[in-house]
Amino acid sequence: MNISIVGVGYVGVVTGACFAEFGNKVICVDINKKKVELINSGKSPIYEPGLDALLKKHIGKNLSATTDINKAIQISDLIFICVGTPSLPDGSTDLKYIKSAAKDIATALKQKNTYSVIVVKSTVPPKTTESLISIIEQESGKSCGKDFGIAMNPEFLPEGRALEDFMNPDRTVIGSIDKKSYESVLSLYKSFKTPIIHVDLRTAEMIKYTSNAFLATKISFANEIGNICKPLGLDVYEIMNAVGMDKRIGRLFLNAGIGYGGSCFKKDLNSLIHTAKNNNIEPKILKSVNETNDCQPHKIVELAKKKLGSLEGKKITVLGLAFKPDSDDMREAPSILVINVLLSEGALVTAYDPIAMENAKKIFNNKINFSSTLEAALSVNKIIFILTEWKEFKKESLYYEKIVFDGRKVLNGKSRDNYEGVCW
Ligand code: UDX
Ligand code: UDX
Repeated sequence: MNISIVGVGYVGVVTGACFAEFGNKVICVDINKKKVELINSGKSPIYEPGLDALLKKHIGKNLSATTDINKAIQISDLIFICVGTPSLPDGSTDLKYIKSAAKDIATALKQKNTYSVIVVKSTVPPKTTESLISIIEQESGKSCGKDFGIAMNPEFLPEGRALEDFMNPDRTVIGSIDKKSYESVLSLYKSFKTPIIHVDLRTAEMIKYTSNAFLATKISFANEIGNICKPLGLDVYEIMNAVGMDKRIGRLFLNAGIGYGGSCFKKDLNSLIHTAKNNNIEPKILKSVNETNDCQPHKIVELAKKKLGSLEGKKITVLGLAFKPDSDDMREAPSILVINVLLSEGALVTAYDPIAMENAKKIFNNKINFSSTLEAALSVNKIIFILTEWKEFKKESLYYEKIVFDGRKVLNGKSRDNYEGVCW
């Protein structure tokens, strides 16, 4: 199949590279010229294990990138919309990129005489995809169902393991306006051995929000239990290891600590809260999931203050800046809040992250120091905060004679003096 990917942020570039790997001819479209040039040179605009290799393998063959949306649309059977859907200040979803992408696609459709399906992959509130039909019909003069189809195919791609999850998903959800659109999208996933769920457009949209809301709920639940465990001298990981063995519960996403970050959970929960309120539903659980999460990064600083007294003038090394390991993404990373609180308490911070430091420098400017190696970061200070569970941080011997505050249960800590875990 010939595919256009409109918007090559994290989701777009992974989707484009993976569809190329499955033998499709893919054109990535973005308004950002730098990203387009980077992809055409076989380099990924984001860090994702395996992605550079996949781009190098396919670029110039069945994968290319362009800023020319019109050219791409003319030769595409399927057009995936993967532009960002950020939050507005009231928590609702800003659909301006989605709408402008739909308009650009519609303008190109004017000159096109073959059928194509427009597929929304970005996370959008229920009813959004169907609202694009009238925008596209008006702008293009074409008719939905006859000249073009519409589908919604949400992504479930966790950063750091996105390629693996794209190739072997737990399920693939395809929402569609009609059978023809569905079959067109289905043809891309024919070789997948996992279940395909066919639903209507708004159900597909709601499945995505519900998945992320539930994952976030599991984390906040684990954090709340962890907060109860800590003063009781209990280790919440021991509790969750046993609790998670119950098949009805499952062990995944019950890791307590400094809470969830990333571009999705908070934004998607806020959007769902907004949708609920618009429908006169008070979403009590969803609201407290985000509230619990907002408090978690503060816990590690409180622990440090309890153990060390005032942090004024204290020299602290922070290990891990990215919102999760195997990612250079700093969006909503709990490290931002922790470091800002440390700075406001008067601490002097040195930080190290295997790959997120370039992105972190843009956030902290010159307010903190960065060490170029783990060893250097450890050698300069006695007080260590661990905020991301990078594998290389897991060696207990690195922390000889250090005072460690662990936000992610990176160390066992049991036989160690001068060790505090957030919820254990
Ligand atoms: C994605 C999804 O789209 C979002 O809905 C989901 O919840 C999380 O993942 P992400 O891949 O992180 O978002 O998007 P982002 O990094 O914001 O990239 C979007 C890209 O679209 C950018 O490269 C931007 O330049 C491009 N864009 C935006 C266009 O090409 N055209 C536009 O009109 C707007
Ligand atoms: C998420 C969704 O999982 C994915 O399906 C897609 O919708 C994009 O958003 P992502 O944000 O990349 O993926 O990573 P994820 O693995 O879900 O982790 C999100 C955050 O939760 C990270 O900060 C992580 O450290 C934290 N987390 C995760 C916990 O605090 N505890 C856990 O048990 C699991």
